[in-house]
Amino acid sequence: MPAASIKSDMMKVMIPPIKCQGIKSKLVPFIKRTVDWSFEGRWIEPFMGSGVVGFNITPRNAVFADSNPHLINFYNAIASGKIDGLKVREFLAQQGEILSKCGQDYYYEVRERFNKTHEPLDFLFLNRCCFNGMIRFNRKGHFNVPFGHKPQRFSKAYITKIVNQVDYVYVMSRHSNWSFICQDFKETLRGISGDDFVYCDPPYVGRHVDYFDSWDEENERYLFEILNQSPCKFILSTWHSNQHRENTFLETLWSGFQVLTKEHFYYLGAKEDNRKPMLEALVMNFTPKHSHEEPTQRVEQLLLLEKLAEYQRNERSVS
Ligand SMILES: C[S@@+](CC[C@H](N)C(=O)[O-])C[C@H]1O[C@@H](n2cnc3c(N)ncnc32)[C@H](O)[C@@H]1O
Repeated sequence: MPAASIKSDMMKVMIPPIKCQGIKSKLVPFIKRTVDWSFEGRWIEPFMGSGVVGFNITPRNAVFADSNPHLINFYNAIASGKIDGLKVREFLAQQGEILSKCGQDYYYEVRERFNKTHEPLDFLFLNRCCFNGMIRFNRKGHFNVPFGHKPQRFSKAYITKIVNQVDYVYVMSRHSNWSFICQDFKETLRGISGDDFVYCDPPYVGRHVDYFDSWDEENERYLFEILNQSPCKFILSTWHSNQHRENTFLETLWSGFQVLTKEHFYYLGAKEDNRKPMLEALVMNFTPKHSHEEPTQRVEQLLLLEKLAEYQRNERSVS
């Protein structure tokens, strides 16, 4: 990777208050440097998830949408001032203290409460102490992620971090024209215009199925039909390959577009040894600012890198 790219990969990324699987925090610098962001229209993000990509682009006008109503309720509660940094601090300090005394029983009590009341602060609490910051809902639409086994989770420093994240979204949404909408991507992509910029990060086909979050080939084809006729620039985030498989849609549906790739390691469980290499892909309908930088690599190369890292770890533990 050229020196300039390494430098920009170290750029500071604002982490959002909510975490979710497939969060693109690590890809933000890569996405940011792929295009010139001086566009006049709206930033349209039909699969916002945590919102980390758009929150770091800081567009003046934006539509953040998702099919999960709890994500949208949470961000609307911040944007409207219903919850702010102060309320978050008080709430997490109080709830965190009970959690530290009562442990996982209290986590499950809050989970039950949230499944009845859908309070955004409960959603935040659960998201920050559940297993791996996952968001998953069962067939009844109930949040069902187990406890993350850290009853002392809510230290002062940790709460301050979350408060700053909430304040950032509050200030940004106050000073910009941002809307948070719960709707299907088809609805969000209706009415895009030439000045807009669309960033799509749908779930990966066949990866996981959940009450608010599932994705199949039909959805992928529908998204293709819309983006293929898009009057504006778009980026689609998807996967290129892992050690077992390649994303065949890149050679079929998306073959007419530019593709940039970047290696990424994800964790299965908490163990360092369970790092799995993955090539992420950005598909786009324009020439990226620096097309030279990430030629499509093969996952075999990543496996070699991983073997090298493993070798170095073993060397360190022997010496
Ligand atoms: C991979 S995540 C997005 C992650 C996000 N880019 C981030 O960095 O946090 C995919 C999101 O798509 C949403 N989603 C799934 N199906 C959808 C649909 N049909 N319409 C709109 N959103 C959908 C899920 O709720 C989930 O939040």
